[in-house]
Amino acid sequence: MHRVVTDKKSFQLEPNETLLEALERTGHKVEYQCRQGYCGLCRVKLLSGSVSYPEPPMVFLLSDEILPCCCKVEEDITISNAFNSDDLTGTLFE
Ligand code: FES
Repeated sequence: MHRVVTDKKSFQLEPNETLLEALERTGHKVEYQCRQGYCGLCRVKLLSGSVSYPEPPMVFLLSDEILPCCCKVEEDITISNAFNSDDLTGTLFE
């Protein structure tokens, strides 16, 4: 299984687990709604490694963004979800 490194920790993906499920299991706060690639709320930044999509996502993604709910992790990855953290919530809208 592939290793995931985030701003907060490093962990292994479990078999048949989505990246979103793994982030939740390991205590990361990730926004979500549809869990199917439609809303874009779960997006995080991919800093290294690669993912693929069994079904093309329905939302526009920047070249460094991925959707943890529906991507397939292809190798060890490093991601950042700092923009979803409680620390940044207040500064984004001031
Ligand atoms: S939760 Fe909607 S795109 Fe991931």
